[in-house]
Amino acid sequence: MSDNIAGKVVVITGASSGLGEAAARSLAALGASVVLGARRVDRIQSIADELSRNGGKALAIETDVTHFDQVKRLVDSAVQTYGRIDVMINNAGLMPMSPLERLKIDDWNRMIDVNIKGVLYGIAAALPYMQRQKAGHIINVSSVAGHKVRPGGAVYSATKHAVRVISEGLRQEVKPYNIRTTVISPGMVDTELPNSATEPDVAENMRKMYEFAVPAESFARAVVFAMSQPEDVDVNEILYRPTRQEF
Ligand SMILES: NC(=O)c1ccc[n+]([C@@H]2O[C@H](COP(=O)([O-])OP(=O)(O)OC[C@H]3O[C@@H](n4cnc5c(N)ncnc54)[C@H](OP(=O)(O)O)[C@@H]3O)[C@@H](O)[C@H]2O)c1
Repeated sequence: MSDNIAGKVVVITGASSGLGEAAARSLAALGASVVLGARRVDRIQSIADELSRNGGKALAIETDVTHFDQVKRLVDSAVQTYGRIDVMINNAGLMPMSPLERLKIDDWNRMIDVNIKGVLYGIAAALPYMQRQKAGHIINVSSVAGHKVRPGGAVYSATKHAVRVISEGLRQEVKPYNIRTTVISPGMVDTELPNSATEPDVAENMRKMYEFAVPAESFARAVVFAMSQPEDVDVNEILYRPTRQEF
């Protein structure tokens, strides 16, 4: 199941914790060169150092995905260092949920900027290289919330629905360039994501809901599954949940 991974150059946004970090660790262990982007540069640097000490190939580049020039620098650095980009994982995201009537406009803007525009900037930075290579794979991270909505989750769900729509549009448009596209929609996974809640009651509810969250390696396995298919097989969508999750 881990064929087709060794030697690939994989750029991951939001690689300083959670899903992005788990994917970086798994892919580096399978022989991929991983390029880690996030704002907490100390974290990605220490992950990259550890992976390199263990014989892997890893590079850390401080990146705020709300700035296109920084996402471009991340991808350009990958190509300058390793010669190409095979996989772009647009993973950075946050989830400060709250009922709309609380008018948490700053939180809405941050979710739109990171969860939607950050994904678009990742596509914009990677696509020109992949078009020239006539090969590549763009993996975007949506959520169960990209399939469903419930009270308190309108804006977060909207951003994750947008990721699925963008991914499907991208899938159809990149056919001429032999580029694969995958959208991964996890359920509750044990990461730092609930810490992005800004409302104390929402944070408390989330902590309870996340009691049966599954480890972040579940996401890494989904990435490995999609990447390790033969090049003529394009796994477009993966949706998974903890077995106990009802939503
Ligand atoms: N955990 C879940 O249950 C779950 C379920 C479905 C989908 N997801 C999605 O999975 C993705 C990863 O989240 P996670 O669960 O792994 O949470 P996490 O542990 O909080 O990780 C979020 C990552 O996003 C990065 N990030 C946030 N804002 C950023 C910005 N402006 N620029 C660059 N990086 C930024 C963070 O890095 P810095 O703070 O260092 O920048 C961090 O590495 C998100 O898109 C989330 O919506 C998670």
